[in-house]
Amino acid sequence: MKQEKIRLLFVCLGNICRSPSAEAVMKKMVKDAGLEDRIEIDSAGILGYHAGEQADQRMRSHASRRGYKLESILRPVTTRDFFDFDYIIGMDDRNLADLRQMAPDQESVEKIHGMMDFAGNGLYDHVPDPYYGGAAGFELVLDLLEDACRGLLDTISSNPDN
Ligand code: 4NP
Repeated sequence: MKQEKIRLLFVCLGNICRSPSAEAVMKKMVKDAGLEDRIEIDSAGILGYHAGEQADQRMRSHASRRGYKLESILRPVTTRDFFDFDYIIGMDDRNLADLRQMAPDQESVEKIHGMMDFAGNGLYDHVPDPYYGGAAGFELVLDLLEDACRGLLDTISSNPDN
């Protein structure tokens, strides 16, 4: 990998369940791979109603049982993010459609990817919103994110442009 940093932004609707979890899972994977200095990771939400709040308590508790600490503070996606980040990764089709609408130019549109496009398991094409469901939904989010983050790290590591 070259010396420039690669910047990843995970995006979901609320930035309290899926994208902060993706941020935590990916940060741990990148740290374990010794690539902390090369890859920067953040998360944001399409909605910004609760900006400044912590991630959802249920999501934090499920993640913590797998050794992930959700430390991110809710913030909305901004136009600037499309210039600051190299990969902007949405969790479902609605996130992707919203991001494409917000993108300020074609180069920005090309930075937008679906999280499950990086997954090895082809059973899910999106990360389902766990907010209104039960415990199984939070566990599923973590299973899907662990799979997709592994694929994303492989994709980044094997890209000769990186
Ligand atoms: P997230 O879950 O997009 O994974 O953070 C949601 C959290 C809050 C809401 C929707 C989804 N909400 O409508 O408040």
